[in-house]
Amino acid sequence: MNVAVIGMGYVGTTMSVALGLDGHQVFGIEKDKKKIQSLEQGSLPIYEDGLEEKLRELLLSKQISFSQYISAINSCSVVMIAVGTPASEDGRADLTYVKKVASQIGKHMKSEKLIVIKSTVPVGTGDVVKQIIDQELRRRGVDIPFEIISNPEFLREGRALQDARNPDRIVIGCTSSSAKKTMEALYQSHIDKLYFTTVRNSELIKYASNAFLATKISFANELARLSEKVGANITDVTKGMGMDNRIGTQFLQAGIGYGGSCFPKDTDALLQIGKDAGIDFTLLQAVKNVNDTQVKWFLNKVETTIEGLANKKIAVLGLTFKPHTDDIRESPAIRILDFLLHKKARVSAYDPKGIPAMQRIFPDVTYSADPLEAVDQANAVILATEWPDIVKMDWDMALRKVVNPILFDGRNVVESHLLRGWDYYGVGVCVS
Ligand code: UDX
Repeated sequence: MNVAVIGMGYVGTTMSVALGLDGHQVFGIEKDKKKIQSLEQGSLPIYEDGLEEKLRELLLSKQISFSQYISAINSCSVVMIAVGTPASEDGRADLTYVKKVASQIGKHMKSEKLIVIKSTVPVGTGDVVKQIIDQELRRRGVDIPFEIISNPEFLREGRALQDARNPDRIVIGCTSSSAKKTMEALYQSHIDKLYFTTVRNSELIKYASNAFLATKISFANELARLSEKVGANITDVTKGMGMDNRIGTQFLQAGIGYGGSCFPKDTDALLQIGKDAGIDFTLLQAVKNVNDTQVKWFLNKVETTIEGLANKKIAVLGLTFKPHTDDIRESPAIRILDFLLHKKARVSAYDPKGIPAMQRIFPDVTYSADPLEAVDQANAVILATEWPDIVKMDWDMALRKVVNPILFDGRNVVESHLLRGWDYYGVGVCVS
């Protein structure tokens, strides 16, 4: 089946490759000419393990092509909108790009279409997109049938292609049986994972899923604060909790909080959707409050433990919002560097992928190509992101390089047996 995917960002490129690998003919549409040129040469604007290699395979087999022009949708019966919905000042999802694309589709479509909204959008956006397209068709004096479908993504950065190709479920909000049949053909490889519902249910499922995952994390993080006070170990506590299959162990890893381009944005957006509907989402507000204060709570512990930060050398290991990505959006490390610099600490930092992006924000930090170089002469070490080469670094060698062997493990990931001679401080774990 011919599919147009509009918006070659993180979701659009991943979905284009996944659909191509499922045997469909994919037309990637993107307004940024430079991005198209690099995609046509088989290079991605994002770092996503394994994606570039599959893109190159699809370029060779001519199953994927790219265009700057929205008129390319006329080679397809299915048009997927995958443009960004960034947060506005007040936290609401900004629909500028979605509305612009809807208007362009209305202006250019020549035959019947299924318009699939892949972007994360507030409940009711399907109706907004429909109105915009209807208006453009009326303006052209044409009557072309189309249906709006909601099909949100549940991709995790760093494993997006795996998530796209091995989904737990594919949520589809649609109305007609013909649309249902087309979506079954589109996702023929995952026919057993399809969940059909209404457009509005589908739009809410996306926000609600992310907000619930964020809730699990903030619950673990606040429980970690209590654990320290009552002499418990959060890692053991959440392990014991997770043995109940109604709770599960995933997304209960306590640490310095969640970041990324989704959880913070989507929890804010859902709070605003609630406000607009007259619902005061108190639980979600608490989830946000915990996450907004978790880094400060962690850093207060650092400052107290080493009796002040001014002129101390602090090594920060890990800058991205999580491992296996180059993305630093809303990374807790941003708050950490900002706080340390404000306290006049001397900061060194290491990250396998995140340094170029972080350097643009904090040029005064000394960035190292190696974690052992970053910890040289450090008065304390902070682990902010659990990259494997940080977690498994030579801590004995590091012990000989630091001035004070103090590790603040912001992700509770370094095994104590690796830390002979170190003073270890985790998040919600007893001090060794
Ligand atoms: C998330 C959702 O998982 C995905 O389904 C959605 O489509 C997009 O948002 P992503 O933001 O890429 O994916 O990363 P994820 O792996 O979910 O982690 C998000 C943040 O939560 C990271 O900062 C991570 O460090 C943190 N986290 C995750 C925890 O602090 N504890 C956990 O137990 C899990």
